[in-house]
Amino acid sequence: GAAELGPYRHYMQKEIFEQPRAIGDTLEGVQGIVPELFDGVGQDGATGASAHRVFKAIDKVLILACGTSYYSGCAAKYWLEGIAKIPTQVEIASEYRYRDSVPDPKTLVVTITQSGETADTLAALKHARSLGMEHTLTICNVATSAMVRECKLAYITRAGVEIGVASTKAFTTQLAGLFLLTLALAQAKGRLSDADEARYLKEMRHLPVALQSVLALEPQLISWSEDFARKENALFLGRGLHYPIALEGALKLKEVTYIHAEAYAAGELKHGPLALVTSEMPVVAVAPNDALLEKLKSNLQEVRARGGVLYVLADRDTQIDSSEGIHVIRMPEHYGALSPLLHVVPLQLLAYHTACARGTDVDKPRNLAKSVTVE
Ligand code: G6P
Repeated sequence: GAAELGPYRHYMQKEIFEQPRAIGDTLEGVQGIVPELFDGVGQDGATGASAHRVFKAIDKVLILACGTSYYSGCAAKYWLEGIAKIPTQVEIASEYRYRDSVPDPKTLVVTITQSGETADTLAALKHARSLGMEHTLTICNVATSAMVRECKLAYITRAGVEIGVASTKAFTTQLAGLFLLTLALAQAKGRLSDADEARYLKEMRHLPVALQSVLALEPQLISWSEDFARKENALFLGRGLHYPIALEGALKLKEVTYIHAEAYAAGELKHGPLALVTSEMPVVAVAPNDALLEKLKSNLQEVRARGGVLYVLADRDTQIDSSEGIHVIRMPEHYGALSPLLHVVPLQLLAYHTACARGTDVDKPRNLAKSVTVE
């Protein structure tokens, strides 16, 4: 009801603004990186499954999820391979459960699910187990869910109840849990120095404050949304760790505004989507100041050369400025490995405000359900 919404117009907006609190709660009590953070909370506490033993035993990760949760898994792959050096495969649950794959018992099977009740994700977990993969862990927002009962190990995110069908705070808290998992695996494998552990912990503790300053960009996203409300198509570009963020940004926009949106890895632009670029196709680019910035800049030139209008989320210290056909929102800081948690927030706000401008049912988009418990 209206009382619960407080100053917000919709649950989606309220939940976007809850993210500093949600991330703070999810990481509360994390003093150092220890595998015990992931010890089972379900039936397996009794059977003595310990994350410490499991993390030492496995040498690859298989992530299974659907929807927004699948995209948080896609981002985690970059962390797991880049920081923990563990080969990681990310699969859409509904694909994995029905395809022939090559199982390896030394795999940590990680399911990601806000509700813990998604039918395809539960079935994919059971499929992995039927193939002899017994090391299971879930990143889940509901401690009493079927998924938490089914998995030996768990990390419970503390987003709180999420009502908006389009997932927002569940996504960023999943990323926080997945980042912790990366560090815990790196530590179990002897690949996390004390100095790196201290630095990452510091960056994690800074997240609530960093999120607040990104949320303060809302007026600029409202201004972008006035342009987007009049379009029927949009393209999102990102590279590396931010390619999954581009995918999530496009998903948010299509879910709540019904604008056709798709995301591409920026390097793929010339292999197809460039043919679609006209002045009627806004192009959103996620441009953190990372190793790929120069490459991304030349992708942006390619869009401009075809008359495409760019909307760029640039880090504080990138040399990209607003000019004819280029709208830049400057992010307050440069966030390092945790950058995806910050860059997704303006994309959530863009989708939200564009939906408001179009008058759609923001919290209950047509044809979609919060939790898909049947196939
Ligand atoms: C539905 C929801 C999405 C969610 C997906 C997976 O499609 O509308 O927001 O990402 O299910 O749900 P889960 O609870 O498994 O994360």
